[in-house]
Amino acid sequence: MEKVIDEAIQGSPLVLETITQGPRKLYIESYGCQMNFSDSEIVASILAREGFDTTQILEEADLVLVNTCSIREKAETTVRKRLEKFNAVKKTRPQMKVGVLGCMAERLKAQFLEEEKIVDMVVGPDAYKDLPNLIREIDDGRQAVNVILSKEETYGDIAPVRLNSNGVTAFVSITRGCDNMCTFCVVPFTRGRERSRDPLSIVKEVTELWDKGFKEVTLLGQNVDSYLWYGGGLKKDFEKASEVQQATAVNFSGLLRMVAEAQPGMRIRFSTSNPQDMTLDVIETMSSYQNICNYIHLPVQSGSDSVLKAMNRLHTRAEYFELIDNIRAIIPDCAISQDMIAGFPGETEEDHKDTLSLMEFVKYDFGFMFAYSERPGTMAARKLQDDIPHETKNRRLREIISLQQKHSLYRTRQHLGKTEEVLIEGTSKKSEEHWMGRNSQNTVVVFPKKNYQTGDFVNVKIQDCTSATLIGSAVGYSENN
Ligand code: SAH
Ligand code: F3S
Repeated sequence: MEKVIDEAIQGSPLVLETITQGPRKLYIESYGCQMNFSDSEIVASILAREGFDTTQILEEADLVLVNTCSIREKAETTVRKRLEKFNAVKKTRPQMKVGVLGCMAERLKAQFLEEEKIVDMVVGPDAYKDLPNLIREIDDGRQAVNVILSKEETYGDIAPVRLNSNGVTAFVSITRGCDNMCTFCVVPFTRGRERSRDPLSIVKEVTELWDKGFKEVTLLGQNVDSYLWYGGGLKKDFEKASEVQQATAVNFSGLLRMVAEAQPGMRIRFSTSNPQDMTLDVIETMSSYQNICNYIHLPVQSGSDSVLKAMNRLHTRAEYFELIDNIRAIIPDCAISQDMIAGFPGETEEDHKDTLSLMEFVKYDFGFMFAYSERPGTMAARKLQDDIPHETKNRRLREIISLQQKHSLYRTRQHLGKTEEVLIEGTSKKSEEHWMGRNSQNTVVVFPKKNYQTGDFVNVKIQDCTSATLIGSAVGYSENN
């Protein structure tokens, strides 16, 4: 960073002296959802303008930021352990400052500074544009906190710095916050009310990514199907918008169409879909654009109607089945994945069996499964007793996981013998001689490298599989290459 110092030397004219220091080094670590990883790229972009370069080496950092997750207690414990490590480094590097970003920052606010003496700065997910001011505060030896949640902030005007990027796939956020108030979930408290980003800024970011050589984007939001742009403002205020704004509003299928048409060579994914907000319109749009991938992450959390009700998930088991049937009818080879919670308060053995039977019906391609973790401040924490013993929660979770493994294998086996388009993301973790990529369904495919390159679309004949990976060999470039 260039620092200009005005120095008045007696008897001589004002001398402007330019001292060139090396850039300050930012080390940033992210936990939790994809949105957090995407936010860290926005933070890196904001701080690049302040003269910070990113580093992967903790020991040389001037500023350490940790982008935190509050979704389960374990996620918070992990962050606290990392803070102990940062503390040890800080002892040998006193100029190093430590800031906490994200959901834990929002949940604990200034209390964090009390609980973790090592922390200099606490910044909630909507306050990243204030980072330059907050850093000035801590540079002056004060502590700094900004956890104000916003009705507008979508960071739509910031071009993220792609961190740890493979140069092929990228996240693009489209909505922030969530209005759903699932009773177990801390997100509406830590990320605020739902608002959508201007579709033109989304298309612009996707186009810039394409120009830089990226081949796949994942549109991100807590609840993407609820996307609604009517000129800015909270989703809940849509009713108050003018007639013209309402008539020209863009919903999620409209956005998908805009992005798919703007960049027909770009693969498009999205996450997460809440079943209660997913419409036929979206499924039909997916099927009519070849570049929108055949994959839906469709968390259900439980297969029992009474648990779904207690969770404030606003659909029934029957309605979920209807949605699955519609997806399969419109996109027969669509992959579907789940999130499940085992041991929600009051969950009976019967309820748990309903979850297993729902899984048998859907036979998900993969899933993310958790034991219920009570989160302070949520409706479930306030109104319901966390009454399922640890052993029962864990046993039910194990049953869910083992059934999922069986279904994952059932699904990967269905790819055997087929030739599928794969986008190469990089070298396989297990073998230097193999590429790793994904098919449209988001399943990992591994195959010998031959002369192909990262970022190529290739047709791969699938010859073998595990429950998580397809193994094959490339037979040529696909027509999209
Ligand atoms: N917006 C997404 C989920 C966001 S949180 C949706 O529509 O479902 C990601 C996942 O974490 C959730 O789907 C849920 O399975 C899990 N999760 C959230 N809160 C939890 C809690 N208190 N205990 C255990 N798992 C939880
Ligand atoms: Fe959480 Fe439910 Fe929203 S799981 S993020 S409150 S859709």
